[in-house]
Amino acid sequence: MFNLEKFVRPNIQSLKPYHSARDDYEQGLLLDANENSQGAPAKNLNGLHRYPSPKQQKLRKKIASFRSVEPENVFVGNGSDEAIDLLYRIFCRPGNDRVIITPPTYGMYSVSANIHDVGVDKVLLHNNFQPQVDEILTQSGDHTKLLFLCSPNNPTGNLLNREKIERLVDEFPGIVVIDEAYIDFSKQESYASKVRNYPNLVVLQTMSKSFGLAGIRLGTAFASAEIIDYFMKVKAPYNINALTAKAALDAFDHLDIIKEKIQQIKKERNRLYNMLGEFTFVRHIYSSETNFLLVKMDRAKEIYQQLAGQNIIVRYRGNEPGCDGCLRITVGTSDENNTLLNALKNVSL
Ligand SMILES: Cc1ncc(COP(=O)(O)O)c(C=O)c1O
Repeated sequence: MFNLEKFVRPNIQSLKPYHSARDDYEQGLLLDANENSQGAPAKNLNGLHRYPSPKQQKLRKKIASFRSVEPENVFVGNGSDEAIDLLYRIFCRPGNDRVIITPPTYGMYSVSANIHDVGVDKVLLHNNFQPQVDEILTQSGDHTKLLFLCSPNNPTGNLLNREKIERLVDEFPGIVVIDEAYIDFSKQESYASKVRNYPNLVVLQTMSKSFGLAGIRLGTAFASAEIIDYFMKVKAPYNINALTAKAALDAFDHLDIIKEKIQQIKKERNRLYNMLGEFTFVRHIYSSETNFLLVKMDRAKEIYQQLAGQNIIVRYRGNEPGCDGCLRITVGTSDENNTLLNALKNVSL
């Protein structure tokens, strides 16, 4: 039996969260929060003199029904980076606890660990960038609280094997976080609805990628209602601003366009994959379930710099384990990809 309280920091278990009157009443003659009764300073800012909803019930309900979970299984944050930060705040005692990450992977898991003075144990992905399940289980000790998995993985672009993920969720003695930032570009089903069956599972998603809304900063964590309660207790009182909440809700009126754009990105991903394969300096292109490609090439650093010299910015990932000589290239529009391909034709090596 999984005992959540064994993993939650004692000070967080006993925390009395900030309480505003808006937690209880969102409508009425609102004289509770010292807002400016004269309103916002311009017509196009109408309504913004009010604090946003602290619990974001409407948005959480919308996301819940889209991902086939209940609203109490959904936390919304200022990007999934906020959810990552909150995981440390809830579960990891600074200077004491540890997490496991599986490099090469998304950088914020260890940056956030460093911010919180939490130890990081690294168990590298191997054999086609898959997790080493036995090594992860062996590495986890009494102080290990979180395991971060990223599927599809950034920067490698591949899905983690389903059986391996499930064995880890079953056997890892702590919280397993699956970051699904790129899931909508893949053929794999999301794990979000599995939070019903797995009390130690947290699934992260974001509107920054498939929804095309990186500018609004809206990330989601899916988990058991008990874990989400802790997120709600620890988060800043009004963590989602009113403009973001409105844009996120509006996006759900345009799901057909979102799906069409995902299809377009996948089509361009395939085209870019094939075209990049034509260059003699390209050694390998990793197959991708995301909106980017990891490309191994000769003289990657020089090519990276030459592209930057032409105002084409890609990401050099050659210092990541297993990514020697690799650039990570976001799939652009058709025109953008053509510009990139033309620039690559002209690199001098
Ligand atoms: C795997 C992964 N998780 C999370 C994020 C950040 O998401 P957000 O924009 O919601 O903070 C990124 C962004 O690149 C990412 O690659």
